[in-house]
Amino acid sequence: MGTDGPTVQDRAFGVLFGFWSSQALLAAVKLGIADHLADGPRTAGELAAAMGAHEPSLARLLRALATLEAVTSEGGRYGLTEFGRALVKGAPGSMRSMILGVMSEDHRRAWAELPHSVRTGETAFDRVYGMPVFEYYARHPDVSADFNDAMTAGSAAVEAAVREAFDFSPFGRIVDVGGGNGGLLAAALEAAPKAAGVLLDTPAGLKGAADLLRARGVSERCEVVPGDFFESVPRGGDLYMLKWILHDWDDRRAGAILRNCREAAAKGSRLLVIEAVLPDGDAPSPGRLGDLNMMAMTGGRERSAAEYRAMIEAAGFVDVRARETRSPCGLVEAVAG
Ligand SMILES: C[S@@+](CC[C@H](N)C(=O)[O-])C[C@H]1O[C@@H](n2cnc3c(N)ncnc32)[C@H](O)[C@@H]1O
Repeated sequence: MGTDGPTVQDRAFGVLFGFWSSQALLAAVKLGIADHLADGPRTAGELAAAMGAHEPSLARLLRALATLEAVTSEGGRYGLTEFGRALVKGAPGSMRSMILGVMSEDHRRAWAELPHSVRTGETAFDRVYGMPVFEYYARHPDVSADFNDAMTAGSAAVEAAVREAFDFSPFGRIVDVGGGNGGLLAAALEAAPKAAGVLLDTPAGLKGAADLLRARGVSERCEVVPGDFFESVPRGGDLYMLKWILHDWDDRRAGAILRNCREAAAKGSRLLVIEAVLPDGDAPSPGRLGDLNMMAMTGGRERSAAEYRAMIEAAGFVDVRARETRSPCGLVEAVAG
C-alpha cells in the first residue's frame, strides 16, 4: 500500500461525509436557504429572522454549506455560489426538485432496505411499501408530483446535451413514451419546429404536463395521451423516445415496452433510448450507483450498450448504435426493421 494517497480510514470518512453532505443539502433545500439568499448576501441573524430559524444552529448549517461550496462567507454575510444558485426554487437549471425528489422519504426508506434486495433479489421499495413504486405514486399524488418535478429537473439538466447530440429536426411526429411532464418532448419540439408531439404516460405521471407544455409554448403541437405502455403505444410516430424508462424494468418488462413501440412504429421509424449506458464488464462508472437506485426503487437495472442492443434487436429494431453525450446520459438509436 502506498503512503501518499488517502488511507482506507480517510476513504471510509469520505463515504460518511457523502451522507452528511447530502443531508445538509437536503436540509438547506427544505429550509429554503438558497431562496432566502437569492436577492443577495445576508447575515445569519437576518436570515434566521426571515426564515424563522434558530440563529446559532442556522449559522452552523451555513458554515457547513460554505464547506460544500454552496454558499460564500464574507464579512459575516452569506451569499450563494453558482452551485448554491442551483438550489433556488424555479431558477434556470435548478436542481432543487431533483434533490427533494431523489432524497425523499420513499427513496430513503427503500434504500435503507438495500441489503434485503441483495439478499433476495426483491425490490426494496416493494418490501417497504407493499407495492411497486409507480402503483404507489398513482395512489399518492403528492409524492408522485415531487417525483415528476424531480424528473423534470433531471431532464432539464441533460436536455442541452441530448439536443447537441441528436438532430430532432427531420422528424414530423415525435412520441415520448413515459415522457412524464414532457420536458424532453418540449425540447425536441423546440428543435423540430414543424413536428407534432405525442406524450404518453400514466394519469399520475402526466399531472404537470399541461402546464409545462403551455409554458414551453408547444401545447398546440402536442397531444397528451394517458395510457399504459405495457398495453400499447400511440401509432404513427417517426421517432419514439424512451428516456429513463427501460432502466425502471427487468428484461421481460423492458422487452414488452420495446415490442409495443415496435408494433406502433412503421418500418423505418426511429427509436431513441436515453439512459446511463454502463461500460462493459466490471469497469467503474457512476451508472453503477444508479443501478443500485433501480435495485432499491423499481426492480429495474442499468444496462451496457451490448445489453441494450440485444433487447432492442429482439424487439424487431435494426441498426442499433450507442453513443455517449457530454451528460451522464448516453443515446441508443435504432430503426424499426
Ligand atoms: C423515471 S420516469 C422518466 C420520466 C421521463 N421520461 C423523464 O425522463 O423525465 C418514468 C416514467 O414512466 C412512467 N410510467 C410508469 N409506468 C408506466 C406505464 N405503465 N405506462 C406509461 N408510463 C408509465 C412514470 O409515470 C414516469 O413518468
